[in-house]
Amino acid sequence: MANEVSTIGVLTSGGDAPGMNAAIRAVVRCAVYNGLKVKGVHRGYAGLINNEIKDMTAKDVSDIIQRGGTVLQTARCPEMMTSEGQNTAAENCKKNGIDGLVVIGGDGSFRGALDLSKYGINVVGIPGTIDLDITCTDYTIGFDTAVNTAMEAIDKIRDTSTSHERCSIIEVMGRNAGHIALWCGLANGAEDILLPENYDYDERRIIDHIIANRKRGKKHHIIVNAEGIGHSMLMAERIEAATGLETRATILGYMQRGGSPTCKDRVYATTMGCYAVDLLLAGKTNRVVAYSEGEFTDYDIDEALAMEKSISEYQYSISKRLAI
Ligand code: ADP
Ligand code: F6P
Repeated sequence: MANEVSTIGVLTSGGDAPGMNAAIRAVVRCAVYNGLKVKGVHRGYAGLINNEIKDMTAKDVSDIIQRGGTVLQTARCPEMMTSEGQNTAAENCKKNGIDGLVVIGGDGSFRGALDLSKYGINVVGIPGTIDLDITCTDYTIGFDTAVNTAMEAIDKIRDTSTSHERCSIIEVMGRNAGHIALWCGLANGAEDILLPENYDYDERRIIDHIIANRKRGKKHHIIVNAEGIGHSMLMAERIEAATGLETRATILGYMQRGGSPTCKDRVYATTMGCYAVDLLLAGKTNRVVAYSEGEFTDYDIDEALAMEKSISEYQYSISKRLAI
């Protein structure tokens, strides 16, 4: 149980994600509506350690709901992983009167929040990452926008790939998680999907698949490859040499992390922002906001971080059945 909160701090941490601004707006407005003060922490934990903290009013978050990125900026901050860094961060919370901190980020950011809670700061995490790799929740801020951006790009690549009767490898983001690759693979009707969770590095199987499909009259072969597997350019060279078919690789890169958030990202991020403030108002701490089994809910941070990560085997298996 948290102590009563009077000042809420909010920060964004780790990779940015479209919809983070909608969440910031909801946190600020919901807190102000309930008579609380709000402080915006700039540049994630780096800003907390360097005391880059400013008062925020309802007006400060106008005209941001539709914008990608994060108006609070974000950072990766190795210092936060040291006890000195955590101590300074907690001291700065106290100096600024922050008794409840909302951390919008991925599981690394939640680990930082958990560390701060040991110094008596009430903390609530909101899942913000395009990777969808936080097990306790079926939704993370930014995933919907990112997969729609990638899907549209892959549609365009498919047009030219078909015209030239080429194979295409499209590399999407996801260093450790294949959710973006799996969703785009299904949405774009890819012939092969390579996921960090279960790729067997059997390139011969892919080559045989391309040759068999070509014999059956397929005019293109789309391979969606996750960043975690990478090496798309070299893979294209090897596939071209083995199949004799022109093969091109495209790395979509950071375009997937930017852009105006979709309706879903705006609405879910907004709901989660208010939910986080409501948790703090209800005296809760060490919680992660989640969307699970069709409802907004919350989990203990420890419990959320301990959940094993996985990819949907069923969805992966249907992608294979459909790629005939
Ligand atoms: P994400 O939050 O998207 O998973 P990172 O893993 O890069 O992104 O983590 C973001 C930041 O959270 C890190 O730069 C660091 O400041 C903080 N962080 C990550 N792991 C820890 C940890 N074990 N202890 C304290 N802080 C951490
Ligand atoms: O935001 C998530 C993510 O896009 C991951 O897929 C990727 O591993 C990581 O961020 C790369 O981010 P950066 O290059 O900013 O460290």
